[in-house]
Amino acid sequence: MNRLIDKVAIVTGASAGIGRATARLFAEEGARVVVGARRRSELEALVDEIEAAGGKAIAVAGDVRSEDYHKLLVSTAVERFGRLDIAFNNAGTLGEAGPSTGVSEAGFAETLAINLTSAFLAAKHQVAAMADNGGGSIVFTSTFVGYSFAFPGMAAYAASKSGLIGLTQALAAEYGPKNVRVNAILPGAVDTDMYREANDTAEKQAFVTALHALKRVAAPEEIARSVLYLASDDASFVSGTAALVDGGASITRT
Ligand SMILES: NC(=O)c1ccc[n+]([C@@H]2O[C@H](COP(=O)([O-])OP(=O)(O)OC[C@H]3O[C@@H](n4cnc5c(N)ncnc54)[C@H](OP(=O)(O)O)[C@@H]3O)[C@@H](O)[C@H]2O)c1
Repeated sequence: MNRLIDKVAIVTGASAGIGRATARLFAEEGARVVVGARRRSELEALVDEIEAAGGKAIAVAGDVRSEDYHKLLVSTAVERFGRLDIAFNNAGTLGEAGPSTGVSEAGFAETLAINLTSAFLAAKHQVAAMADNGGGSIVFTSTFVGYSFAFPGMAAYAASKSGLIGLTQALAAEYGPKNVRVNAILPGAVDTDMYREANDTAEKQAFVTALHALKRVAAPEEIARSVLYLASDDASFVSGTAALVDGGASITRT
């Protein structure tokens, strides 16, 4: 408890899955949280839940492809809560999947826009607010896919998510002198809407489960606890990393 006392955080992709679990955990740990995603009703339900538990949150609905949306998230944090310390840039999509010969240019570009360009646009406005305030912590949600693990039919997703690792390193080097830490978290499979959409049969779920050393997929709350570590002062000397939280999928060959 209280690991984020007096901190102000932005969490995107907060209407569901990993983002929702992380926003709740940040609030439980004392942060005031600006929650973002497109589905306003889901965000408002989350804010009600956080406030009922004694926390503080504001919902700001929008699309992460828009630079204006990132400006609004940052200005909401600063104007309503006084500062910005933490940003979990987590919104993402599987994008256009399937054999690469069938992937359209528009589908590939859209996947990059939602998963990668959005992260750059977010950080561009977040680092300035954090640097003004003595520093901060930015966490991007990448994945083991395209880093330590390859699946056929996921070219756009893998390219966009591995791009986040280069972005993490560049920003960590550039803003480290301003005490802004930047890290990427790389989950294995996590039981969310996205996982169930990609693995829509019991056979597919059994296959993916077996890829992990722990022989199960993660609950969103397990990823949230690792994000909390990277976001908090417990990780005060951690920057520029690609942090696998993958249940041993990357080292499993059985
Ligand atoms: N589940 C896994 O196995 C897994 C593994 C590794 C990494 N990840 C990554 O984890 C992140 C969270 O995914 P999840 O598994 O929690 O899936 P999820 O439950 O489907 O959540 C995805 C979130 O992203 C938001 N989002 C998508 N497109 C958006 C857009 N254009 N603008 C604003 N928000 C947008 C969604 O909100 P709205 O629909 O309300 O906009 C939702 O809140 C993603 O980046 C994903 O790639 C997931």
